[in-house]
Amino acid sequence: MDIQSLRGMPDLFPEDLEKWHILEKTLSKVFHSCGTKEIRTPLLESTELFNRSVGNSSDIVNKELYSFLDRNDKSISLRPEGSASVIRAIIQKKQEHEKHKLWYQGPMFRYERPQKGRFRQFHQAGVEYLGYEEGLSEYELISMVIQLNQQLGIKKYKIKINHLGDQDTKENFCNALKLFLEPHLDTLHEKDVARLESNPLRILDSKEESTQNLLATAPRFQDFLSESPKTFLTNIVQHFTDQCDIAVDSSLVRGLDYYTGLVFEVVSEDLGAQDAFLGGGRYDHLSKELGGKSMEAIGFAIGLERIIDLMQIQPLQNVQKVAFITVGEQDQQKTYKIAHALREANLSVTLDAFLSSATLKSQLKRANKNEHHFAIIIGEEERELEKYLWKDLSAHGDQELLHFEALIDKYKNL
Ligand code: HAM
Repeated sequence: MDIQSLRGMPDLFPEDLEKWHILEKTLSKVFHSCGTKEIRTPLLESTELFNRSVGNSSDIVNKELYSFLDRNDKSISLRPEGSASVIRAIIQKKQEHEKHKLWYQGPMFRYERPQKGRFRQFHQAGVEYLGYEEGLSEYELISMVIQLNQQLGIKKYKIKINHLGDQDTKENFCNALKLFLEPHLDTLHEKDVARLESNPLRILDSKEESTQNLLATAPRFQDFLSESPKTFLTNIVQHFTDQCDIAVDSSLVRGLDYYTGLVFEVVSEDLGAQDAFLGGGRYDHLSKELGGKSMEAIGFAIGLERIIDLMQIQPLQNVQKVAFITVGEQDQQKTYKIAHALREANLSVTLDAFLSSATLKSQLKRANKNEHHFAIIIGEEERELEKYLWKDLSAHGDQELLHFEALIDKYKNL
């Protein structure tokens, strides 16, 4: 039986998770400081939810959904992203008329071809502002992105923004693009020929060289945008330009069908081919498309596996490793008493008790080898005196004979 982990679904070990914990703490601190509240939605949803939100023309729904029939023959899917579930939850609670600032975090699933920075189970942390019309919330979210990067020590990144206009802009542009490309179907990459029918806008961010060559002389999306979204983009760039590298990228269309206004992506050249570690945008029509009342929405999600590679913060080494060394079995249970008192005092201490059948000297040797910071020793003499020998295992080698209370105080004051 093959019990290897599935491709693209990595394990996270204690040494990995130290950095994850710092990331998760920083994210929730920044989200809370911006007044957002946490929401948790299930990992499984009806497949219909993603068909109607992320969209039938997107790669995510077309070929990457983990879908299967449950015991009742209903098609269900592991969530590939978080926004659709958040909107579903709000509609189900009949709260579309209220304003919400929400954040979430957790595993997402996409059946993609695994490579560096691209997994089949990966983690996102996302923010969704619901009930906020176009205007200030765009500024607030971009400023939150800058704050997050600052707090995580990420300096080398670029924010790309674009505006997808309204329904008319999209339609007029797509018609013009179709007219232009139809005589060139033999040169257009076959993937993009399919997109011409399902979602022509996506052809703009095609990675295929033959398509990109054709696009050089094709109608340009920005020429179809009205003045107001263009000014909106220019103003955003002007506002943030002294805080970060930010620019309009008119080929940025994003891979999910639900976007309507501003879209943005944050990339870093330090990541290699999968260079986007954050993506988002406005999606004002999704609530209605899912059967709810009209509700404006804008948000973003961070790819945690990618952002963690960019983080400049090293895990804190503040946990003291203490070796508890005894020669008599009757002293062993004192470990728990000490561990309990130290934890009650909120100290980060790991207490390892060694087998007392070994000699004191060999136990000490083992403590040194395992990089313990301190040792607490109870030999014959200490037992008689009802004291503990506290020993610093660093180069200083200080030691003191202490009563229980003094020993605990010693740690509190380290
Ligand atoms: P997305 O661009 O599909 O947007 O994903 C956001 C981020 O998740 C990406 O920038 C990337 O860092 C990470 N990501 C995506 N797929 C993978 C993968 N296979 N392996 C590793 N990381 C990955 C969304 O999901 C939207 N829901 C964002 C949003 C929220 N828009 C509005 N609100």
